[in-house]
Amino acid sequence: MTQPAHFQPHPDLGELRYEGKAKRVYATADPAVYIVEYKDDATAFNGVKKAQIGGKGAINNAITAAIYPQLEAAGIPTHFIEKLSEREQRVKAVEIVPVEVIVRNVAAGSFSKRLNIEEGTPLPRPVVEYCYKSDALGDPLINTDTAVSLGWATETELARIRELALQVRDFLTPFFLARGIKLIDFKLEFGKLADGSIVLADEISPDTCRFWDAETNEKMDKDRFRRDLGGVEDAYAEMLKRVTQGV
Ligand code: C5P
Repeated sequence: MTQPAHFQPHPDLGELRYEGKAKRVYATADPAVYIVEYKDDATAFNGVKKAQIGGKGAINNAITAAIYPQLEAAGIPTHFIEKLSEREQRVKAVEIVPVEVIVRNVAAGSFSKRLNIEEGTPLPRPVVEYCYKSDALGDPLINTDTAVSLGWATETELARIRELALQVRDFLTPFFLARGIKLIDFKLEFGKLADGSIVLADEISPDTCRFWDAETNEKMDKDRFRRDLGGVEDAYAEMLKRVTQGV
């Protein structure tokens, strides 16, 4: 059981389409609509480290549901339709492009390790990286030639994905800074609608972004779990407060 006993799935839930480490995706009676359910499960190092973070599913659902409409308003198409319940949201049905997109403002994590650049070193221009979405392989770093050659996306789709990823960065970086948070890096996933157009899918949350307090550089994201820093639940709750209570 990954849900508290009082959790009542939404009556529109159809067949389970996909289960990832942090979410489940269900079909609905409408083929153009899915329901996403956020879990409390946390994993790191490709599933080697596992735990439950109390309230995480509800917090990540609420943060994503607060941010996606603002991205839409800024001209970035997303899969988001509406928040349905504490843990569920209604989204447009997409076929996920199996290319994870990482955007970096500041060196950290695998970038720092790979290139021996101290964490916290600002990058003079944002860096966009691509990984193959594969749990079995641990989401390996790829380039766009690999994605095109292996048929994961076309060159046109990848150009659109890069453009949208940088637009997300241009929106989110000042959005978080106004809330006392430095956006260090983040991961996005994109999907294709039935008409072939690309939309932002997945989530934007402390699971998928690095957030550092602008005053203290305190980590306010999943690195608290990955690196055993403690205070994971408090950091996630604080991020929700800053996102929803605004400037
Ligand atoms: O580990 P790395 O430095 O490559 O992570 C970059 C960013 O992408 C971090 O914000 C991390 O939370 C996110 N990420 C993710 N899912 C992955 C890999 C990275 O959300 N599979």
